Amino acid sequence: SSGPLIDTFGRVASDLRVSVTDRCNLRCTYCMPAEGLDWLPSEDLLTTDEFVRVLTVAVRDLGIRRIRFTGGEPLLRRDLEELIAAASNMPEAPELALTTNGLGLRHRAQALADAGLHRINVSLDTIDPARFAQITRRDRLSNVLDGLAAARDAGLQPVKVNAVVPNRDDLAGLPDLLRFCLGEGYQLRIIEQMPLDADHRWDRGAMVTADEILTTLRRTFELDPDPRPRGGAPAATWLVRGHTDPTGQTARVGVIASVTRPFCGDCDRTRLTADGALRNCLFADAETSLMPALRGGLSETALDAEIARRWRGDMWHKAAGHAVNTTDFRQPDRPMSAIGG
Ligand code: GTP
Ligand code: 5AD
Ligand code: SF4
Repeated sequence: SSGPLIDTFGRVASDLRVSVTDRCNLRCTYCMPAEGLDWLPSEDLLTTDEFVRVLTVAVRDLGIRRIRFTGGEPLLRRDLEELIAAASNMPEAPELALTTNGLGLRHRAQALADAGLHRINVSLDTIDPARFAQITRRDRLSNVLDGLAAARDAGLQPVKVNAVVPNRDDLAGLPDLLRFCLGEGYQLRIIEQMPLDADHRWDRGAMVTADEILTTLRRTFELDPDPRPRGGAPAATWLVRGHTDPTGQTARVGVIASVTRPFCGDCDRTRLTADGALRNCLFADAETSLMPALRGGLSETALDAEIARRWRGDMWHKAAGHAVNTTDFRQPDRPMSAIGG
């Protein structure tokens, strides 16, 4: 059986985000408490072979063309290179990307590139070491910066930097962060905080908006509209006048305005969690577990058909959009770190 993942609104999911672990070695205040969370028990996590099985069906039978590995922190999975290599060796290999906090990336960037990884996005909210330590509750800025440089040196192109703005006071640091990224050849994207924190403390009034971000950047930089079509990408991008990227084109900066400018109508995504659940949206209120099928003793053919059947069923019921801006919004039970950003 083959054919795309389609929903009742006619959207087609060709982009898969895979959370390979819910664990993390940072403790960003907007994501998880200082003591961490109740991690998924290891026997509930998909094994390497189970991940490869599911990814094979996704690419071969369901039209998935791009796979992004996330977490938690995906580098905490020792088999990440193995998963990437397996996906890279599939017929009609998908585009392979990774979103990471960059800790330990210095030692793995080359191996990831060698395994077949194409692109990398690194979370970095500030280049001020003291502020970095406050936000992440770990004094590891230099480690992240080394990881970024290693990714660039391994030829992962473009290297993107994801910055959440935890507080309004952090707006003041954005020009420094953009200047740093322009100088190093990284593409910065600044993100509106979504209500996916484990503590359920998100507050609309405290959230820094895309408009505030752009107003701040425009005090220091001249931004022009980006003529390149956006497609289903979360980031709206601007050209930064007078700056070039490593390919010699005008440099770009992006803003991801999930809350004030939702892009759900163009969404092309589906998700798989580390414990084998399918989610048709970051904010989905229901999931479809593949575990009963994966661990049910089916033959390979029957299993593949069952994975595809469940996946099509899960996507068919995807909502038109998230309800963050409505009065009956309810935050998902799983935090961001267990969904996969
Ligand atoms: P590119 O392929 O490089 O554009 O990556 P990306 O921006 O899609 O992924 P990344 O993992 O770097 O995530 C950047 C931000 O976009 C994070 O805050 C994600 O939570 C957010 N994001 C990713 N996918 C979705 C989505 O489907 N919906 C919403 N609302 N936000 C998303
Ligand atoms: N809202 C938006 N983005 C978030 N991230 C983490 N928590 C949130 C949130 N509540 C970002 C991380 C990472 C990406 C996957 O999502 O910084 O770069
Ligand atoms: Fe870890 Fe990412 Fe959450 Fe920070 S935002 S604690 S890096 S999972």
